[in-house]
Amino acid sequence: MNNFKINIKTTEAWVSENELASYYPAARKSLELIHNKTGKGNDFLGWLNLPEEASLQADDIIKTAADFRKNIDCIVLIGIGGSYLGTKAVLDALTPPFGINMPGPEIHYAGHHLSEEYLVDLLEYLEKKNWGIVVISKSGKTTEPALAFRILNIALINKYGKSVAREKVIAITDSSKGALRTMAEQENYKTFIIPDDIGGRYSVLTPVGLVPIALAGYDIKEFIAGAIEMMKATAPDIENGENPAIIYAAIRNALLDKGKTIEILTNFNPRLHFVSEWWKQLFGESEGKDGKGIFPASVDFTTDLHSMGQYIQDGPRNLFETFITVNKALKELRVPKDDNDFDQLNYISGKRIEEINSQAALGTLIAHMDGGIPVIQIQLDQLKEKELGALMYFFELSCGLSGYMLGVNPFDQPGVEAYKNNMFALLGKAGFENQTESLRKRLDK
Ligand code: PA5
Repeated sequence: MNNFKINIKTTEAWVSENELASYYPAARKSLELIHNKTGKGNDFLGWLNLPEEASLQADDIIKTAADFRKNIDCIVLIGIGGSYLGTKAVLDALTPPFGINMPGPEIHYAGHHLSEEYLVDLLEYLEKKNWGIVVISKSGKTTEPALAFRILNIALINKYGKSVAREKVIAITDSSKGALRTMAEQENYKTFIIPDDIGGRYSVLTPVGLVPIALAGYDIKEFIAGAIEMMKATAPDIENGENPAIIYAAIRNALLDKGKTIEILTNFNPRLHFVSEWWKQLFGESEGKDGKGIFPASVDFTTDLHSMGQYIQDGPRNLFETFITVNKALKELRVPKDDNDFDQLNYISGKRIEEINSQAALGTLIAHMDGGIPVIQIQLDQLKEKELGALMYFFELSCGLSGYMLGVNPFDQPGVEAYKNNMFALLGKAGFENQTESLRKRLDK
């Protein structure tokens, strides 16, 4: 692929070419398990061929999005975890800061935490806006989005009246199950389906991601095209050393076996912050189980070089980094010459800021390797829909491979129920009475 490259030369001091090659058979076996649908969690592999299926849905989504945004200047996207992180990752990567030159309505988020103040502030902000809601929940019963939807939907009805308000809601949920599906049918909302065989963190190429990305005015066909290119580049007929997903899964597991238990996803572009948040969910929720898993962390450089840089350079050597760099900046600014040169920056006058950023990335790469950190490099040509589609599909497939290599089921998330059960018990939900009593006793101690 021309617009995506993975380079692991900068890990060779820790994992030799021969050692890496010894991990390829397991990575290939995992790729076969995924393609033959014979591994753990094989009923959740709907994401594998999704890019091709998504292209069939694209026109309908684009049309719905165009109609929906006609009389709207602001959309609240309600969802948590896999139901919002992929969208936020893509939209933050594509949208210029300060709200300038946005191709579509503003997008704000709700239902991704339980802050009362946030909801009060959001309601106040929405008073002067012409707004609508996109509510996303596969189960249709997750507390955080359900609560936010109840509150925001009442505000929407109060503002527009029931019949207009229901035209300003899109619900994305299961085809038949869950409270959101029941409500959507009763209220006649426009709906899209999240397929049964796709978990939240693998759902960015379903309507979960495609509808809000299209609503925000971005090109979902390009996004899907990037994912299709990556599907081809990572297919079973591509040799191990040429297959980016096999390379990434193999090197991660080789580094883990060398005691590198933490992977830091590192970017040099603030627009990639939420790509890292999405990636952390993808790998954390997929691999962290049965006492296994690489802990996924992230930093935004050069910002965090002035905070976390010290730890990475000099702290415990149980880390490796994966750098994501972007070759071309889409806007240009050069350092001006200043005759006084009080700040002594004339030595870089005339240079583009992006060139300085690139040198900072190279300087960091060498410093961290000298400090004992292996670095995997992922290079994107530019930050556009196509590259993001390719990157996200690449991470999804690599995550499946890597999880199988670890011996876990990368497609379930049994651990996330623990807090929910305790919260329901503490809030006095029916059916949780026994737990309520025992939790209260523990808290009283
Ligand atoms: O990846 C996952 O499965 C989770 O992060 C879910 O997306 C998240 O818990 C939200 O679930 P739901 O879409 O059912 O509201």
